[in-house]
Amino acid sequence: MTTYGATPAHVAIIMDGNGRWAKARGLPRLAGHRAGVEALRRTVRAAPGLGIAYLTVYAFSSENWSRPQSEVSDLMGLLKIFIRRDLAELHQNGVKVVVIGDRATLQPEIRSLLEEAELLTAGNGALTLAIAFNYGGRDEIARAARKLALSVARGEIDPEDITPAAFSSALDTAGIPDPELVIRTSGELRLSNFLLWQAAYSELAFLPCYWPDFSADHLAEAVREFGRRERRFGGLAPQDVAL
Ligand code: IPE
Ligand code: IPE
Ligand code: MG
Repeated sequence: MTTYGATPAHVAIIMDGNGRWAKARGLPRLAGHRAGVEALRRTVRAAPGLGIAYLTVYAFSSENWSRPQSEVSDLMGLLKIFIRRDLAELHQNGVKVVVIGDRATLQPEIRSLLEEAELLTAGNGALTLAIAFNYGGRDEIARAARKLALSVARGEIDPEDITPAAFSSALDTAGIPDPELVIRTSGELRLSNFLLWQAAYSELAFLPCYWPDFSADHLAEAVREFGRRERRFGGLAPQDVAL
Protein backbone atom coordinates (compact mmCIF):
# COMPACT_ATOMS: atom_id res chain seq x y z
CA MET A 1 0.00 0.00 0.00
CA THR A 2 1.31 3.44 -0.89
CA THR A 3 -0.29 6.68 0.19
CA TYR A 4 0.37 10.29 -0.79
CA GLY A 5 -0.97 13.66 0.05
CA ALA A 6 -3.11 12.69 2.98
CA THR A 7 -3.56 14.79 6.10
CA PRO A 8 -2.17 13.08 9.19
CA ALA A 9 -5.02 12.23 11.57
CA HIS A 10 -2.55 11.75 14.41
CA VAL A 11 0.46 14.00 14.94
CA ALA A 12 2.82 13.31 17.83
CA ILE A 13 5.32 15.91 19.02
CA ILE A 14 8.53 15.68 21.03
CA MET A 15 8.49 19.16 22.54
CA ASP A 16 12.24 19.66 22.95
CA GLY A 17 14.54 22.64 23.38
CA ASN A 18 13.01 24.62 26.26
CA GLY A 19 16.29 24.71 28.18
CA ARG A 20 18.36 25.89 25.22
CA TRP A 21 15.73 28.50 24.33
CA ALA A 22 16.06 29.92 27.85
CA LYS A 23 19.87 29.70 27.88
CA ALA A 24 20.08 31.63 24.61
CA ARG A 25 18.21 34.45 26.36
CA GLY A 26 20.16 34.31 29.60
CA LEU A 27 17.04 33.07 31.41
CA PRO A 28 16.59 30.20 33.86
CA ARG A 29 15.41 26.88 32.39
CA LEU A 30 12.03 27.34 34.08
CA ALA A 31 11.38 30.35 31.81
CA GLY A 32 11.90 28.05 28.84
CA HIS A 33 9.45 25.49 30.21
CA ARG A 34 6.89 28.26 30.82
CA ALA A 35 7.28 29.50 27.25
CA GLY A 36 6.94 25.85 26.19
CA VAL A 37 3.48 25.71 27.77
CA GLU A 38 2.49 28.73 25.64
CA ALA A 39 3.68 26.89 22.52
CA LEU A 40 1.60 23.88 23.58
CA ARG A 41 -1.51 26.11 23.89
CA ARG A 42 -0.92 27.52 20.39
CA THR A 43 -0.45 24.04 18.96
CA VAL A 44 -3.62 22.63 20.52
CA ARG A 45 -5.61 25.58 19.17
CA ALA A 46 -4.19 25.19 15.66
CA ALA A 47 -4.45 21.40 15.30
CA PRO A 48 -8.18 20.91 14.53
CA GLY A 49 -8.05 23.50 11.72
CA LEU A 50 -5.36 21.44 10.00
CA GLY A 51 -7.48 18.28 10.05
CA ILE A 52 -5.62 16.75 12.99
CA ALA A 53 -7.88 14.57 15.15
CA TYR A 54 -5.26 13.24 17.58
CA LEU A 55 -2.35 15.21 19.03
CA THR A 56 0.11 13.46 21.32
CA VAL A 57 2.69 15.56 23.16
CA TYR A 58 5.75 14.34 25.05
CA ALA A 59 5.75 16.42 28.23
CA PHE A 60 7.83 14.38 30.69
CA SER A 61 9.74 11.20 29.97
CA SER A 62 10.43 8.27 32.28
CA GLU A 63 14.09 9.36 32.05
CA ASN A 64 13.45 13.01 32.96
CA TRP A 65 13.48 12.04 36.67
CA SER A 66 17.26 12.10 36.35
CA ARG A 67 17.25 15.91 36.09
CA PRO A 68 17.95 18.03 39.17
CA GLN A 69 15.16 17.73 41.71
CA SER A 70 14.30 21.43 41.39
CA GLU A 71 13.68 21.09 37.64
CA VAL A 72 11.60 17.93 38.13
CA SER A 73 9.48 19.78 40.64
CA ASP A 74 9.14 22.80 38.29
CA LEU A 75 7.88 20.47 35.55
CA MET A 76 5.39 18.80 37.91
CA GLY A 77 4.21 22.26 38.95
CA LEU A 78 3.74 23.36 35.35
CA LEU A 79 1.61 20.31 34.59
CA LYS A 80 -0.62 21.15 37.54
CA ILE A 81 -0.90 24.78 36.41
CA PHE A 82 -1.66 23.73 32.82
CA ILE A 83 -4.48 21.39 33.87
CA ARG A 84 -5.93 23.87 36.38
CA ARG A 85 -5.81 26.90 34.07
CA ASP A 86 -6.58 25.31 30.74
CA LEU A 87 -9.02 22.52 31.49
CA ALA A 88 -12.11 24.72 31.15
CA GLU A 89 -10.96 26.12 27.79
CA LEU A 90 -9.97 22.68 26.51
CA HIS A 91 -13.38 21.33 27.49
CA GLN A 92 -15.16 24.29 25.92
CA ASN A 93 -13.30 23.67 22.67
CA GLY A 94 -14.33 20.02 22.61
CA VAL A 95 -10.87 18.65 23.42
CA LYS A 96 -10.74 15.18 24.91
CA VAL A 97 -7.75 14.87 27.25
CA VAL A 98 -6.08 11.50 27.79
CA VAL A 99 -2.86 10.82 29.62
CA ILE A 100 -0.36 8.13 28.66
CA GLY A 101 2.54 6.97 30.81
CA ASP A 102 2.94 5.36 34.21
CA ARG A 103 0.77 7.06 36.82
CA ALA A 104 1.61 4.74 39.68
CA THR A 105 4.70 6.75 40.71
CA LEU A 106 3.15 10.23 40.36
CA GLN A 107 2.03 12.33 43.34
CA PRO A 108 -1.58 11.55 44.32
CA GLU A 109 -2.48 15.22 43.70
CA ILE A 110 -1.26 15.01 40.10
CA ARG A 111 -2.95 11.66 39.58
CA SER A 112 -6.30 13.02 40.65
CA LEU A 113 -5.91 16.15 38.49
CA LEU A 114 -5.18 13.96 35.46
CA GLU A 115 -8.17 11.76 36.24
CA GLU A 116 -10.39 14.83 36.63
CA ALA A 117 -9.28 16.13 33.22
CA GLU A 118 -9.95 12.77 31.57
CA LEU A 119 -13.33 12.35 33.21
CA LEU A 120 -14.58 15.86 32.42
CA THR A 121 -13.57 15.70 28.75
CA ALA A 122 -14.30 12.02 28.04
CA GLY A 123 -17.29 12.79 25.82
CA ASN A 124 -15.53 15.41 23.62
CA GLY A 125 -14.69 14.82 19.98
CA ALA A 126 -13.12 17.88 18.36
CA LEU A 127 -9.55 16.77 19.15
CA THR A 128 -7.98 14.09 21.33
CA LEU A 129 -5.00 15.52 23.21
CA ALA A 130 -2.84 12.72 24.58
CA ILE A 131 -0.37 14.03 27.15
CA ALA A 132 2.63 11.72 27.53
CA PHE A 133 3.66 12.27 31.14
CA ASN A 134 6.06 10.00 33.00
CA TYR A 135 6.02 8.22 29.67
CA GLY A 136 8.64 5.89 28.21
CA GLY A 137 8.10 3.60 25.24
CA ARG A 138 9.99 0.71 26.81
CA ASP A 139 8.16 1.12 30.10
CA GLU A 140 4.82 1.15 28.27
CA ILE A 141 5.73 -1.99 26.31
CA ALA A 142 6.89 -3.77 29.49
CA ARG A 143 3.66 -2.84 31.31
CA ALA A 144 1.59 -4.10 28.35
CA ALA A 145 3.55 -7.38 28.33
CA ARG A 146 2.92 -7.75 32.06
CA LYS A 147 -0.82 -7.17 31.55
CA LEU A 148 -1.00 -9.79 28.80
CA ALA A 149 1.10 -12.28 30.81
CA LEU A 150 -1.30 -11.87 33.71
CA SER A 151 -4.26 -12.59 31.43
CA VAL A 152 -2.54 -15.75 30.21
CA ALA A 153 -1.74 -16.82 33.79
CA ARG A 154 -5.39 -16.34 34.73
CA GLY A 155 -6.47 -18.43 31.76
CA GLU A 156 -8.37 -15.52 30.18
CA ILE A 157 -6.39 -15.66 26.92
CA ASP A 158 -4.03 -18.09 25.17
CA PRO A 159 -0.44 -17.14 24.29
CA GLU A 160 -1.51 -17.46 20.62
CA ASP A 161 -3.94 -14.60 21.16
CA ILE A 162 -1.02 -12.19 21.63
CA THR A 163 -1.00 -10.65 18.15
CA PRO A 164 0.29 -7.20 17.19
CA ALA A 165 -3.31 -5.93 17.36
CA ALA A 166 -3.83 -7.44 20.83
CA PHE A 167 -0.53 -5.93 21.94
CA SER A 168 -1.56 -2.49 20.66
CA SER A 169 -4.75 -2.78 22.70
CA ALA A 170 -2.73 -3.45 25.86
CA LEU A 171 -0.69 -0.24 25.45
CA ASP A 172 -1.58 3.11 27.05
CA THR A 173 -2.58 4.32 23.57
CA ALA A 174 -5.31 1.65 23.16
CA GLY A 175 -8.02 2.99 20.86
CA ILE A 176 -5.77 5.73 19.43
CA PRO A 177 -4.51 5.13 15.88
CA ASP A 178 -0.74 5.11 15.31
CA PRO A 179 0.73 8.56 14.57
CA GLU A 180 1.29 9.14 10.87
CA LEU A 181 3.68 11.98 11.70
CA VAL A 182 6.14 12.46 14.57
CA ILE A 183 7.68 15.93 14.92
CA ARG A 184 10.71 16.73 17.08
CA THR A 185 11.84 20.27 17.66
CA SER A 186 15.31 21.50 18.79
CA GLY A 187 17.37 19.78 16.10
CA GLU A 188 18.00 16.52 17.97
CA LEU A 189 17.70 13.49 15.67
CA ARG A 190 16.36 10.79 17.98
CA LEU A 191 13.14 9.43 19.49
CA SER A 192 14.26 9.47 23.15
CA ASN A 193 11.96 6.53 24.05
CA PHE A 194 8.82 8.10 22.52
CA LEU A 195 6.07 5.87 21.05
CA LEU A 196 8.53 3.11 20.11
CA TRP A 197 5.79 0.63 19.13
CA GLN A 198 3.36 3.11 17.61
CA ALA A 199 5.90 4.96 15.45
CA ALA A 200 6.88 1.82 13.48
CA TYR A 201 5.78 3.43 10.20
CA SER A 202 5.49 7.08 11.20
CA GLU A 203 6.98 9.78 9.02
CA LEU A 204 9.53 11.75 11.02
CA ALA A 205 10.05 15.52 10.88
CA PHE A 206 12.99 17.08 12.71
CA LEU A 207 12.75 20.85 13.05
CA PRO A 208 15.68 23.06 14.06
CA CYS A 209 13.54 25.49 16.09
CA TYR A 210 13.32 25.25 19.86
CA TRP A 211 9.92 24.22 21.20
CA PRO A 212 8.99 27.65 22.67
CA ASP A 213 9.36 29.12 19.15
CA PHE A 214 7.06 26.51 17.58
CA SER A 215 4.06 28.14 15.90
CA ALA A 216 0.91 27.24 13.98
CA ASP A 217 2.92 27.95 10.81
CA HIS A 218 5.54 25.33 11.75
CA LEU A 219 2.76 22.82 12.31
CA ALA A 220 1.06 23.68 9.02
CA GLU A 221 4.37 23.36 7.15
CA ALA A 222 5.12 19.96 8.74
CA VAL A 223 1.66 18.76 7.71
CA ARG A 224 2.23 20.04 4.13
CA GLU A 225 5.62 18.32 4.01
CA PHE A 226 3.98 15.11 5.21
CA GLY A 227 1.61 15.35 2.25
CA ARG A 228 4.62 15.19 -0.09
CA ARG A 229 6.04 12.02 1.47
CA GLU A 230 5.61 8.70 -0.31
CA ARG A 231 4.59 6.10 2.24
CA ARG A 232 5.22 2.53 1.08
CA PHE A 233 4.76 0.37 4.21
CA GLY A 234 7.18 -2.20 2.82
CA GLY A 235 5.44 -2.37 -0.55
CA LEU A 236 6.27 -0.68 -3.84
CA ALA A 237 5.31 2.70 -5.20
CA PRO A 238 2.64 2.31 -7.93
CA GLN A 239 5.05 3.49 -10.65
CA ASP A 240 7.47 0.70 -9.72
CA VAL A 241 4.98 -2.14 -9.90
CA ALA A 242 5.59 -4.02 -13.21
CA LEU A 243 2.49 -4.04 -15.38
C1 IPE B 1 11.95 19.79 26.62
O1 IPE B 1 12.95 20.74 26.76
C2 IPE B 1 11.09 19.67 27.85
C3 IPE B 1 11.32 18.46 28.64
C4 IPE B 1 12.13 17.51 28.35
C5 IPE B 1 10.53 18.32 29.84
P1 IPE B 1 14.33 20.42 27.47
O2 IPE B 1 14.20 20.74 28.92
O3 IPE B 1 14.77 19.04 27.19
O4 IPE B 1 15.26 21.47 26.77
P2 IPE B 1 16.76 21.24 26.27
O5 IPE B 1 16.75 20.01 25.42
O6 IPE B 1 17.61 21.10 27.48
O7 IPE B 1 17.06 22.47 25.47
C1 IPE C 1 12.57 14.13 25.32
O1 IPE C 1 13.45 15.18 25.47
C2 IPE C 1 11.51 14.18 26.38
C3 IPE C 1 10.55 15.25 26.27
C4 IPE C 1 10.50 16.16 25.32
C5 IPE C 1 9.56 15.30 27.32
P1 IPE C 1 14.81 15.05 26.32
O2 IPE C 1 15.43 16.38 26.29
O3 IPE C 1 14.51 14.45 27.65
O4 IPE C 1 15.61 13.98 25.47
P2 IPE C 1 17.19 13.73 25.35
O5 IPE C 1 17.72 13.61 26.76
O6 IPE C 1 17.78 14.91 24.64
O7 IPE C 1 17.33 12.49 24.55
MG1 MG D 1 15.90 18.21 25.72
